[in-house]
Amino acid sequence: MDSGIPRDMDMLSAPYLRISDLVKIYATRDGVVRALDRVSIDQPRGEFLSILGPSGCGKSTLLMIAAGLIPASGGSITIEGKPVDSPRTSIGIVFQSPVLLEWRTALGNVLLQTEARGTKREIAEQRARELLSAVGLAGFEDKFPHELSGGMRQRVSICRALIHGPDHLLMDEPFGALDSLTRDQLVLDLQQLWMRQQMTVLFITHSIAEAVFLSDRVVVMSPRPGRIDRVIQIDLPRPRTLAMRDTPEFAAYSRQIMELFLARGVLNEHAGGLAK
Ligand SMILES: Nc1ncnc2c1ncn2[C@@H]1O[C@H](COP(=O)(O)OP(=O)(O)O)[C@@H](O)[C@H]1O
Ligand SMILES: [Mg+2]
Repeated sequence: MDSGIPRDMDMLSAPYLRISDLVKIYATRDGVVRALDRVSIDQPRGEFLSILGPSGCGKSTLLMIAAGLIPASGGSITIEGKPVDSPRTSIGIVFQSPVLLEWRTALGNVLLQTEARGTKREIAEQRARELLSAVGLAGFEDKFPHELSGGMRQRVSICRALIHGPDHLLMDEPFGALDSLTRDQLVLDLQQLWMRQQMTVLFITHSIAEAVFLSDRVVVMSPRPGRIDRVIQIDLPRPRTLAMRDTPEFAAYSRQIMELFLARGVLNEHAGGLAK
């Protein structure tokens, strides 16, 4: 398409991640599932962007396409102007389940990728120890996964994702399986890591509070087929504190999203009609 802007200017102003009219259709035995329907998102470098939506709206699909792990059915996705058409190596990924190797220590799990990539052991180990310490795991380097709590295991998997200094951190409901206190702590730790390391983060969640707390912008998705319902800019100062969750400003953002979910039937205040 000719926008009238010279091509190199186009490249300069291009965002880090550009998703345009992305469509994903899965073929199943029961027919086709349209998981994503013309999704367009631009993410500037350094932004903390959350994708928030109900179960089944295509969030994980979007993350897998952004990681280059599955192909799109239509539309385009680029990183700094280059199409994503194979698994990206400059990313870190964290899933809901930490999937650690049981026979490796915490340190050994964090170092896994650096061994595969041939990074010098001393440099990698120093960085791994720094990361583990940054998430409160100093002294736990030599513990095996079965000796760690769920929250600690997820911390190890975050360190593993960050060990090679990725440009882009992709997280798919990373705190979904944790108790609320551990979750609060990890949300704080993640904000700290992000502020220190100038990463670009794509964070997937179905928690309104988590999205508002962490994000520069929240992309709210509608139920299947996944479309973007609204993009909300979160203008709260950083670093955000747990006490901020009780402020009227924070509550107003949460309410705005909750009202969208009520309007779309994602939440229903009269569920089941039991009160009648
Ligand atoms: N590999 C697959 N094959 C067929 N259907 C799939 C596959 N992966 C996901 N889906 C379907 O696509 C839709 C979106 O799934 P997903 O991206 O996992 O949503 P979310 O992460 O928001 O819960 C769901 O209806 C799901 O059942
Ligand atoms: Mg998912």
